[in-house]
Amino acid sequence: MKKIGVLTRDCAGINAAIRAVVRTSAFHGIEVVGIIKGYDGLINRELVELDRRSVSGILSRGGTILKTARAKRFLTEEGQKKAVKTITEKEIDGLIVIGGNGSLTGAHVLATKHNISVVGVPATIDNDINGVDLSIGADSAVNVAVEALDKIRDTATSLERVFVVEVMGRDCGYIALQVALAGGCEEVLIPERETAMEKICADIVEGSLQGKISWIVIVAEGSAKGSDVADTIVKETGLETRLSVLGYIQRGGIPTAFDRILAARLGSHAVELLKEGQTGVCVSLKENRFTTVPLETAIQPKKIDSERDYRLIKILT
Ligand code: F6P
Repeated sequence: MKKIGVLTRDCAGINAAIRAVVRTSAFHGIEVVGIIKGYDGLINRELVELDRRSVSGILSRGGTILKTARAKRFLTEEGQKKAVKTITEKEIDGLIVIGGNGSLTGAHVLATKHNISVVGVPATIDNDINGVDLSIGADSAVNVAVEALDKIRDTATSLERVFVVEVMGRDCGYIALQVALAGGCEEVLIPERETAMEKICADIVEGSLQGKISWIVIVAEGSAKGSDVADTIVKETGLETRLSVLGYIQRGGIPTAFDRILAARLGSHAVELLKEGQTGVCVSLKENRFTTVPLETAIQPKKIDSERDYRLIKILT
């Protein structure tokens, strides 16, 4: 292995993973090229050499120094051929793809259809990579959302209001569940559970009659629209209700120490795996040990065990 290419998606902790890839490669005498704007950059030959110094000072920066894009052209045969041509002509021996479901699906295509050596590193706030306990970025996103929630709780309490807070997560309720648990929220709507709005509204009315003065209802973006949930609560309870959509503040920002450490470990291990000749896998940590998940498995829908945490949220509220 003489030269590794690295391409990424976007979330907190990805720069820390790039740094780990570059410096572990340098340790082994392997060159690294960064691919600008994800699969688009592979098609357009937008590459940049990355040496030890080029990744100085990026550990604590959110986003990705390599930039990224949704590469529709990579979905076509022609786009894939161009990407493979870049890999071959630039003598890239192996590729490390750092990102979520879409990025890892591209990695799977390169490994299976085009015989490229690829190792994936799970990095998405959604934490929806099948077979992977925790992806880079999820912890940072949860921490940002919880900080926001603590502020919202102040206002909810001062004004005796109901707040509906919509969080990200695509089709996965991970962020919503964690945030609800860490923020002491009264209710959480996630795609993995049926939601009975009548029951939620009845609970709010009942609580209000017993003197409860504030509520925070977390809505995972994949379960319902926060605005619809807020409208229903106003209609059914008559209580003053406000909506707050946290949106993209959850994806950027300074990565937590946990995410930096995870990124250091997974990024570095991905280099070791490529060096050993492994391909078509996503690197992961299970019970603090390195493990791999076939990319084919990693890109399947993930089932999270939501019942335990949901039950706890309801007991503690
Ligand atoms: O996958 C991460 C994520 O932030 C989701 O939580 C969200 O639904 C989506 O990306 C937004 O995607 P885009 O970057 O295309 O707006």
